[in-house]
Amino acid sequence: MTIRAVVRGVGHYLPERVVANSEFEASLDTSDEWIRSRSGIERRHFAAEGQTTSDLAVRAARAALDDAGLAPDDIDAIILATSTADLTFPSAATMVQAALGMERGFAYDIQAVCAGFVYALANAHGMILSGQARRILVIGAETFSRIMDWTDRSTCVLFGDGAGALVLEAAEGSGDKSDRGILSVDLHSDGRHRDILYVDGGVSTNSTGHLRMQGKEVFRHAVEKLASTADSALDKAGMDHSEVDWIVPHQANLRIIKATAQKLGLSMDNVVVTVQDHGNTSAASIPLALSVGVERGQIREGDVLVTEAIGGGLAWGAVVLRW
Ligand code: UT7
Repeated sequence: MTIRAVVRGVGHYLPERVVANSEFEASLDTSDEWIRSRSGIERRHFAAEGQTTSDLAVRAARAALDDAGLAPDDIDAIILATSTADLTFPSAATMVQAALGMERGFAYDIQAVCAGFVYALANAHGMILSGQARRILVIGAETFSRIMDWTDRSTCVLFGDGAGALVLEAAEGSGDKSDRGILSVDLHSDGRHRDILYVDGGVSTNSTGHLRMQGKEVFRHAVEKLASTADSALDKAGMDHSEVDWIVPHQANLRIIKATAQKLGLSMDNVVVTVQDHGNTSAASIPLALSVGVERGQIREGDVLVTEAIGGGLAWGAVVLRW
């Protein structure tokens, strides 16, 4: 008998305020046409004043619990991927735990920027396989609007706020690739690339800081590393490209998503794309895409999914799972 970490529920939340590309034209030397053609982004959501990352995460968590038909106390742990937690401490995850009224279990944050949700899935998988927890809420939630430099047109038009969540549950499997649940994990980081994507402030440097990015450089790394981590996760799962139903990529740039699919030899018909509506929501982008993909009727039980992401660090990775 093999234990698998199987998806039992999914949900998401997007803040009410939708900002179209054209809104940036009043304050920046940019255009809807430039943003669309270079990134595929058409609009994004921004959190309201006072609305924090844990607020968004709680809404997504409730939606995932409802979908799973579970109550907060049925959950053993919360793992929240974010780079924009409400406070330096406590973790946003413990705030979600309290807001849900969960009186047992344990909760913590994971920080791997845009790769955060892939890292969180990998972590939850390990927790379930080692018997530390049977049911885990895995959340990706961000308010990147709080770390934008609104005078920097090369970054501030690209990001958005939002949250998505999965409930993962231990289930018995046969140990082969026909099982539902997480089938393989592939993680990487390379800290030598710090300067191409970072925030120029933080607790230990005494400021909040703003996101800084050398877009072209990140783009170059993204296409190469995302295709190679997806390949290696598929290898570990004993699968080839023809067995993949959906790529659910980090939603940073439509051109990166297309180039990665092409490198993997997969059609865009097999890719869940939400970047046009959400922009880049960092660790929230994959669970948002999973939830929207299910809502649209794209992702169905039994489908083989490859999630892949890259972000600041650089940190990147992929997870293969059967939905
Ligand atoms: O989530 C973490 C991972 N992040 C990513 O994956 C992002 C990766 N990078 C990208 O998505 C793309 O590199 C960008 C969308 C950021 C930029 O696209 P690009 O095709 O690489 O453009 P570029 O940076 O080479 O800029 C081209 C031109 C520049 O002008 P010059 O130097 O050619 O005169 C920029 O100054 O476009 C200019 N530009 C803009 N023009 C209008 C940069 N931002 C803007 C803008 N509006 N918002």
